[in-house]
Amino acid sequence: MYETIISKVNEESLNKAREYILNGELVGFPTETVYGLGAIAYSDEAVKKIFEAKGRPQDNPLIVHVHKDYDVDKLVYVDYDYVYKLREAFLPGPLTMVYRSKGMISPVATCGLDTVGIRIPSSEAAQRFLRAVNVPVAAPSANVSKHTSPVTAMHVYEDLKGKIPLILDGGKCTGGIESTVLDVTTDTPIILRSGLVTADMIKSVVGKCGYSQNKPTDKIRAPGMKYRHYCPKCETALFKRNQVALAQKLYDEVKAKGQRPYFMCDDAMLSEIHGNVLRLGSTAEEIASNLYDKLHESEGLADMLIAFEVETGSDVDVGIMNRLSKACKKYE
Ligand code: TXA
Ligand code: MG
Repeated sequence: MYETIISKVNEESLNKAREYILNGELVGFPTETVYGLGAIAYSDEAVKKIFEAKGRPQDNPLIVHVHKDYDVDKLVYVDYDYVYKLREAFLPGPLTMVYRSKGMISPVATCGLDTVGIRIPSSEAAQRFLRAVNVPVAAPSANVSKHTSPVTAMHVYEDLKGKIPLILDGGKCTGGIESTVLDVTTDTPIILRSGLVTADMIKSVVGKCGYSQNKPTDKIRAPGMKYRHYCPKCETALFKRNQVALAQKLYDEVKAKGQRPYFMCDDAMLSEIHGNVLRLGSTAEEIASNLYDKLHESEGLADMLIAFEVETGSDVDVGIMNRLSKACKKYE
């Protein structure tokens, strides 16, 4: 057991973070997407602690974070020239590229794959942390496996207190959903996980972009496991936008039983429903940035969270719906 300290990002806390990371301990740190749970990516023992602290399945590989001046090509092979264009256009930022690995990263992090995902986060706090440690940091989101991803230091604390020595507090994450994961080991880059860097944005740079919800590792994961993720600790029901009457009926029934229902939706739906609402906002970027925060908020407020599918017309909707449909049970 650790006494978990939350500390603002400053010289003193960064020194501590460096000491912990270089000694093979875990540190929670902010990025522009969600908080990460970091360990030195060279060490099997250190990386194992991430899987233990999260209760993460051993066959789901971790991505590796470095600061913006780090020589990524020490770690990976660049097979296609479009990679340089993507780096130029989107990095630092919420785009993780999966390359062929040169084998320096712990096989515990890559789950024995010959590829590795590299991420260069853009937030100043993440950059300061990565520069202070100056080693590649393996990091998934800093939550207990299956729970909603953390977008504040307090969210990390609630899930991981006692399990890690330090959480660097950089305030609320602005991006809100995890980075886009893009396979760059083939002639056409393939999106493995959607995020704020969208297929359209990648196409505009490379001229082409494929899309796959099936990661190479899916076949070895337990069937069904991949469908629930990001879940708040309350009952949930996800409705289509044309199911307002049904959703309102559920709200009223839950309320009549003396329990606490809450709606969660984007602003375009507000005028159609009656009751307490967690507002996601109106633009896709705003909705992405609020999604996990509102899911966390629902845990203290609601017995039943009644959510509506998001549809703004933006390409970012894909990433939002990918998370929302795993976080909330489809109403049937
Ligand atoms: O925004 C983010 O990406 C956050 C912050 C902390 O940087 N990190 C994050 O990590 O979301 P994680 O571990 O929760 O998600 C990494 C995703 C997983 O879906 C994993 O299956 C995939 O990337 N992944 C990692 N390495 C891979 C590889 N070599 N091949 C295919 N997929 C990989
Ligand atoms: Mg995660």
